[in-house]
Amino acid sequence: MFSRILSAVALGGAALPALAPAVAAEEVNLYSYRQPELIAPLVEAFTEKTGIPVNVAFLEQGMVERLKAEGMRSPADLVLTVDIARLSAIVDAGVTQPIDDPALIEAIPAALRDPEGHWFGVTTRARVVYASKERVADGELTTYEDLADPKWQGRICTRSGTHPYNVALTAAYLYHHGEEATKEWLTALKGNLARKPQGNDRAQVRAIWAGECDIALGNTYYMGQMLADPEQQDWAESARIVFPTFEGGGAHVNISGIAMTKASPNRETALKFVEFLVSPEGQEIYAEKNYEYPVAPGSEPSELVASWGSFEADDVALMDLAALRPDALRLMEEVDFDG
Ligand SMILES: [Fe+2]
Repeated sequence: MFSRILSAVALGGAALPALAPAVAAEEVNLYSYRQPELIAPLVEAFTEKTGIPVNVAFLEQGMVERLKAEGMRSPADLVLTVDIARLSAIVDAGVTQPIDDPALIEAIPAALRDPEGHWFGVTTRARVVYASKERVADGELTTYEDLADPKWQGRICTRSGTHPYNVALTAAYLYHHGEEATKEWLTALKGNLARKPQGNDRAQVRAIWAGECDIALGNTYYMGQMLADPEQQDWAESARIVFPTFEGGGAHVNISGIAMTKASPNRETALKFVEFLVSPEGQEIYAEKNYEYPVAPGSEPSELVASWGSFEADDVALMDLAALRPDALRLMEEVDFDG
């Protein structure tokens, strides 16, 4: 079922083996949608510090179904994932328990955690614009609203409008401007696209590199991932990150987050792990590995991430965005964004 982090294997889709009763007195069991190598340094640092082993099961999909099927027999203590949409889906399924812990409340800004304590954002990523260094001047785009400007006609690339990242961005637009304006914005943005939505975020930066478009929507950490990949380095270097803001707001951010399962058999040690994750040491290790932003005050992003520039995060509570997701998705479909 679980693998110690150093020999972690993908279990996505695998049948659930029978579980032997836990022997170790102290351990933490983690179900993760994040790749084992992204959490390995964090887990290693935690185990080194506390002596508590962490067992990680990497899931590609089906987290909610698995936790429901396992019920109160689940070995999982914690679930680790990205995006408020996924976190709220897990919470809505009734498979988590609240954590009421002063260290977490102090470390994590209120907008980035569930007011009832069922989920906690542990890093943030901004959804930004990648702009061609050659064809887009500094300051040419400063707001998300600007993406609707006709000067971008035939120049914008993006992944599908129904992808959770774009749905969350649209939910934020709805929060700031309401339904009518959001529909107009989506329609104008669609009209500015260089091609039908397709591919992932990095494929859009590749399209900038290839000259197919001049600006693209993408999450910040992909810049780090592309720079680390010899095949994608040129794509990354053809573009720079621009942090747009909403008029009257900030840059759109989403989170990676953690939640404690209802069945958690190792509640005390699991809590220690979460506390470590939001400590300055845990924050920096985890954020650096993922090219993300730490959430705890006093924790700094890595030098590379900091080099992309600083920004003011939008102040909308992620709970509010989660609530607006269905409307955002409906609007995407109404304007036939991908069509
Ligand atoms: Fe991503």
